[in-house]
Amino acid sequence: MDSSENITSLNKLLEVLESCEGQDYYNIAKRLAIPYQELLPYAFWSEDTYTRNCVLRTDDYELLLLCWEEGQETAIHCHNGEECWVYLAKGKLREKRYIEKEGDLELTADVKMTEDRLSYMNDDLGYHSLHNLNEGRSMSLHLYVGPIDECSVYKEEKDKFVFKELEYYSEDKKILSN
Ligand SMILES: [Fe+2]
Repeated sequence: MDSSENITSLNKLLEVLESCEGQDYYNIAKRLAIPYQELLPYAFWSEDTYTRNCVLRTDDYELLLLCWEEGQETAIHCHNGEECWVYLAKGKLREKRYIEKEGDLELTADVKMTEDRLSYMNDDLGYHSLHNLNEGRSMSLHLYVGPIDECSVYKEEKDKFVFKELEYYSEDKKILSN
């Protein structure tokens, strides 16, 4: 496949990831143009929280579909030294970024992501949180290089970061019972 061509299906993305041998994930991420309908087999929502659905995991990366009900959001979190690209497939998200300054969190960016918008994050850029702004559901595809099993999450009531293990809501298109 031409490395400037848009990636318009999930199958194409999986093919490109498989043959990329750890090279240039940004070049892959910026070509993402996958209609959300392609992702529906992996999509599960929960009234309790946004869901993390595993599409594919290797030693090098994990590809997750996050499904958001109206009003759902993440806590402020780090990325445990890894890189993360977020491609918004459906709906509208708000991303807030923070840095730690003299023991406090300082807001450095507050942006709206609308469909086809790509975002990139790593720990050098600080922390962030994501919020579903849509009047209805949203879906976002996250590419983590490499996989992230735990991260620091800001607990407002304690005013500090705590370690959190990250779990999948579904894998192989099936909801996992926790
Ligand atoms: Fe994140």
